[in-house]
Amino acid sequence: MIPDSFKRDLLNRVDIVDIIQRHVQLKKAGANFSACCPFHNEKSPSFTVSPSKQFYHCFGCGAHGDAIGFLMEYSGLGYIEAIKELAAGAGMTLPDFEPRFGKKKEEGGPDLYDIMQRATQYYREQLKGSPRAIEYLKGRGLSGQVAAHFGIGYAPDGWQNLQAVFPKYDDQSLKDAGLVIENDAGKRYDRFRDRIMFPIVNQRGFVVGFGGRVIGAGEPKYLNSPETPLFEKGRELYGLPQARQAIRDSGRVLVVEGYMDVVALAQHGVEYAVATLGTATTPTHVQKLLRQADEIVFSFDGDAAGRKAAWHALEVSLPATLDHKAIRFLFLPEGEDPDTYVRANGKQAFEDLVGRAEPLSAYLLAQLRARVDTNTMEGRSRLVHEAKPILKSVAAPALQLQLLKQVADIAGMTQQEVERLCDLRRSQPGPWQRPAPPKVERAAVKSFELRLLECVLVKPALASELSGEILHGENLEAKALLALGEFVRSNPDLSSEVMLIDHFRGSPFETLLKQVRSELMVLGLTPEQAEGEFRDALPRLERQRIHEQLNDLQRKDKAGALGPADAGLMNALTKRLAALDQRPSGNRSVL
Ligand code: UTP
Ligand code: MN
Repeated sequence: MIPDSFKRDLLNRVDIVDIIQRHVQLKKAGANFSACCPFHNEKSPSFTVSPSKQFYHCFGCGAHGDAIGFLMEYSGLGYIEAIKELAAGAGMTLPDFEPRFGKKKEEGGPDLYDIMQRATQYYREQLKGSPRAIEYLKGRGLSGQVAAHFGIGYAPDGWQNLQAVFPKYDDQSLKDAGLVIENDAGKRYDRFRDRIMFPIVNQRGFVVGFGGRVIGAGEPKYLNSPETPLFEKGRELYGLPQARQAIRDSGRVLVVEGYMDVVALAQHGVEYAVATLGTATTPTHVQKLLRQADEIVFSFDGDAAGRKAAWHALEVSLPATLDHKAIRFLFLPEGEDPDTYVRANGKQAFEDLVGRAEPLSAYLLAQLRARVDTNTMEGRSRLVHEAKPILKSVAAPALQLQLLKQVADIAGMTQQEVERLCDLRRSQPGPWQRPAPPKVERAAVKSFELRLLECVLVKPALASELSGEILHGENLEAKALLALGEFVRSNPDLSSEVMLIDHFRGSPFETLLKQVRSELMVLGLTPEQAEGEFRDALPRLERQRIHEQLNDLQRKDKAGALGPADAGLMNALTKRLAALDQRPSGNRSVL
């Protein structure tokens, strides 16, 4: 494992602001930096980065962590990988360590990752010794360099070749790794025989599975590793680690259907392609890719199967859409795939096609339109009916609104009508998305309570001065202030507003507090300013309260209903008001 001391040194060496700034545009906000959160959808920034504490925190979705955590979450890196990347940037060398991941290895048994690595090595060596396999790859236009870059190998013909690498051929772990198959009679043999081997490497850089292609014709054309403790098809994308740099440089990722497409594109200099593994696109795929690229282009063959796969990719993408990221669809001419196209026409022609790929919105609307006859009322009604589940699952708010307008247009209805018919007021975010907090309705002019809340969130100790005498309002802000006061009094050493927000998670004040906090990100109030503001607002609030009470009492008096106790109260209030007026007024408000 990586020693803690190394991790500490590393975190001391790097600046989280630097690291995050590379991916997210940060704005200075007081002592901190803020931005719209890259991990959930929002319009006002609740993502904050603290240079002094060296962590990031989102008050909207709760994402939280240090520089390592950011890289893991944002770039989809593994722990070790994130550390490696940070270390490389900081000019530090990682100490030797033993990777220990995934399935616990059995006592004394070999590690599955290790087994996959040794098998990869073996297949690669076997490729060197097989002129037939080399000829096949050459015939498909691949250079030795590209083959090496993807770790391509060859599994020779024969039933138990792996015995050469794994003398304990009957070890359970070989079966667990999916490399050998056991027949009913208990006889074991290699899964991959006489096939070109494409190792599938996960984000952490470990081989987790293989795709094996027959040389020439034969069934099945591709044989894939089964799902194992290391390998889940719906999560992995072929070629992702190899494409990562190019994805970062171009901001784009191209999702293709086949192993050979990825490899052939790379051979022609299109290095940002990845492939799904003979499975349909999953939400995990989309989510993973949107974290690493600004734009996903899905490429599909121009046949019926390709169109079906495209629509499926669209459906799983909608809940992951973000207004600042694009998703597009590329349909290749019938009979072509990226491999054949790039080989025949070259990089430029292929990238021109990618550049002209259809935006998700256009593809979606064209498909909807094609399903109905918009010349009839029934057709237009059906359009709305069909659009409903689609519109509802669009997570990006601005995109959803525009699609809604278009659907309304086509249906010959108003936006409000379609909105109501489609039940859109509160669109449900997908299960993998953290919902943005709902907005609390508030008056345009900030109340004193709200201003006090802002101050307390910047400097929690101030809350201990709050009491029920002044805060006897019924509004949520007043109640929140009282609760904060109580909490701070019983936790006097509370140092950070993050703890405050954490404490009130799940309380009736959660949304309000988070919202106030995100407003503060924009305001950028320093603790000194907060204290000044607090000392200004508190007496003003008290004055306001006293005026309200005095008004009530005067009304009572006019009605001749003033009791003896009331008269005493009136007297006390008037005195208190005079005392308050004597005090010098606080700093000028900055809020
Ligand atoms: P295709 O049949 O489109 O093959 O399968 P391809 O990628 O063009 O392959 P080449 O160019 O003939 O070598 C696309 C993907 O579907 C999965 C594989 O992941 C393949 O890359 N597939 C296909 C299988 O898993 N098994 C198969 O038998 C066929
Ligand atoms: Mn092909």
